Parts: sequence; C-alpha cells; structure tokens
Amino acid sequence: MGAVHARTVASSPLIDVVAVADTDTAAAASVAGEIGASPSSTIDRLVDVSGIDAWLIATPTSTHPALVRQAVQAGVHVLCEKPLSLDVTDSGRLGEEAHAAGLLLQIGFWRRFSPPWATAKRLIDSGAIGKPLMVRLSQWDADPPPASFCDPAKSGGLAIDCGVHEFDLAEWFTGRTVQRVTSFNLPLVDQSLATVGDVDNLVAVLEMGDGVVATVDLSRNCRYEDDVRTEILGENGAIFVDLLPTGRTRLATAHGVDVVAGSETDDAFSVGILRQAEAFARAVAGENVDIPDADASTRAVKVGWAIREAANGTPVDV
Ligand SMILES: NC(=O)c1ccc[n+]([C@@H]2O[C@H](COP(=O)([O-])OP(=O)(O)OC[C@H]3O[C@@H](n4cnc5c(N)ncnc54)[C@H](O)[C@@H]3O)[C@@H](O)[C@H]2O)c1
Repeated sequence: MGAVHARTVASSPLIDVVAVADTDTAAAASVAGEIGASPSSTIDRLVDVSGIDAWLIATPTSTHPALVRQAVQAGVHVLCEKPLSLDVTDSGRLGEEAHAAGLLLQIGFWRRFSPPWATAKRLIDSGAIGKPLMVRLSQWDADPPPASFCDPAKSGGLAIDCGVHEFDLAEWFTGRTVQRVTSFNLPLVDQSLATVGDVDNLVAVLEMGDGVVATVDLSRNCRYEDDVRTEILGENGAIFVDLLPTGRTRLATAHGVDVVAGSETDDAFSVGILRQAEAFARAVAGENVDIPDADASTRAVKVGWAIREAANGTPVDV
C-alpha cells in the first residue's frame, strides 16, 4: 500500500514526495528510485530533514501508534493508513496528542474522496433521496491475504481490517453513529484462518438509532476482483455506488435510474487515493477541508470489535 501511495501521490502537482522510508531497504530504494525521491531505511533519518510538512504512514497497523507519535514529536502532519490503532483508548489519545500539537491527523478512508462515493454523499446532503433509512455496504476481496496478516491481534482481522471502511461510510452517509451490532460468521472457506481465529466471510447488522439500519457484508473469497458496492435507500429514492467494472454513482428516483454526471471513474480506487492525499495537502496548507480524523477511526474500530463479539448472532452495544 505504501508503494501505491508513493506512486499515486508523486503524480500530484500539490505534493512533492521528497523521501521514502521502509525498514526493507530494497523496497525503499525501488519505490524512491521510481519517483525520484530519497530512500531511507528508517524514519528516524527523516526527522532531521528540514522542509518536510507531513508524513504518509502506510506500515503494518501495529506500527501506526509509535510512528504517529514520532511524527507528532517531529512536528509534522500525518496521513495514516486505516485503522489508526486497534486499541480504541490509545486511538483516542493519539487524536488528542496531534490536536494538542496543532497537527492534522487524517485517516486513510479513501472512499470518502473517490468520485462515486463523494457524489453519493453530495446527493444525500442535498436531499436527493430524502432521509437515509438503510445503507447496504459490501466489500468483497478476491482472495485472502496470508493467515499471519489476517490475525486479529495484528490487523484486526476481517471485521476491522476490511470492515472499518464500511462502518465509516455508514456513519458518514447517515450522519449517525452505530449504536448496536449483530453479526454472523459464514462457513469458513480458507481453513488456515482458523489457526489465527479469523473468518473469511461475515454479515453484520448495524443499528444507527431512530430505526435507521446499515448492513455490512465482508468477504475474502469472491475470486473475480476486489469489489466494493454501496446502496443507500432514502425516503424518496436510492443511490447505488459501484467500483466495478468502472466506478459510478446511479441515482434512482420516481423519474428513473440515471448515472450521475461526474461520478464515472475507470479506477475509483487510485483516484480516491490521489484525492485523499490532495485533500490532506489542502488541509495542511490551511484550507477548511472535511477530513476523516482519529475519532472516525476510533469509532470504526469499536464497531469492528463489537462485531467480533457479536459473531454468534447476539446483539452487542457499541
Ligand atoms: N486503505 C486501504 O484500502 C488499504 C488497503 C491495504 C492496506 N491498507 C493498510 O495499509 C497498511 C499497510 O498494509 P500493507 O498491506 O501494505 O502491509 P505490507 O506488510 O505489505 O507492507 C508494509 C511495509 O511497511 C514496512 N515497514 C514495517 N515496519 C516499518 C517501520 N517501522 N518503518 C518503516 N517501514 C516499515 C515493511 O517493510 C513493508 O514494506 C495497513 O495499516 C493496512 O491496514 C489499507
């Protein structure tokens, strides 16, 4: 993911990527060479480089808290991959530390910046479908990563590693917070996941208050391609968001079902990654930009832990 960010961000006229650090020296050298940045085997060496405004952190989730603290101590803004921390108390603390230092701490919820989802949010906020009543969110990955990565203690497992994007969207679209969850694990497909206590498919129901409900289904074995689909049903219509075969938003009302102008994107993932970084750069430059912060990650991780606890179908308060 770090290489994806580095290559994508390097194409932006708003951002100069000056250095790439990775404990794997060959990886740092290869990506830095590609984009004309300096390679470094440790982030420590970047602390003394003057003129750096921000770090983008895309290391394994367990390393985020220490690296974010290092950035805050170095006085640089941070765009950190999701989730900020698996520990919700520490996640809140990290947000407070960055805030106290006057630094931005943005979390990598890229869907919020990708045209199909950003268009859906603009339509909801403009009242195009009335009050949202239900959100249906699917994230289906083609194949699972190794069991060692799926280990809930390391990445949060399916419910957190994959789920946080969807929980964040459910709250962002409805303007509500998740109150209670019920979840069901489907029969295990990749038996190696049993060794680390994770699953490869689950379906969860998220109660958002006042009867508003989101359903989230996550898979690591759809086989065709990593896919994301979102549907929002409102009082007066619906919005459908697709990633495949190309990104697009459709608005469905009594007048028919139409693709929304400006929402179509061949690679909604890459465009989302680019626009996320550019929103961050604009916020660093002092513009008033709505960015997902530490609280958004903390809440999404809380929902993920509740879903793991609720996996036998018993509702769990968040
Ligand atoms: N937003 C998304 O859609 C998305 C998708 C994939 C991964 N991610 C997130 O990105 C992060 C990285 O995931 P990944 O799949 O790329 O992991 P990865 O294991 O493939 O890569 C991590 C890289 O970080 C390096 N590294 C480890 N510790 C380091 C340290 N202390 N300092 C510098 N470099 C260090 C490793 O050498 C490796 O090159 C995770 O937090 C994951 O949740 C987000």
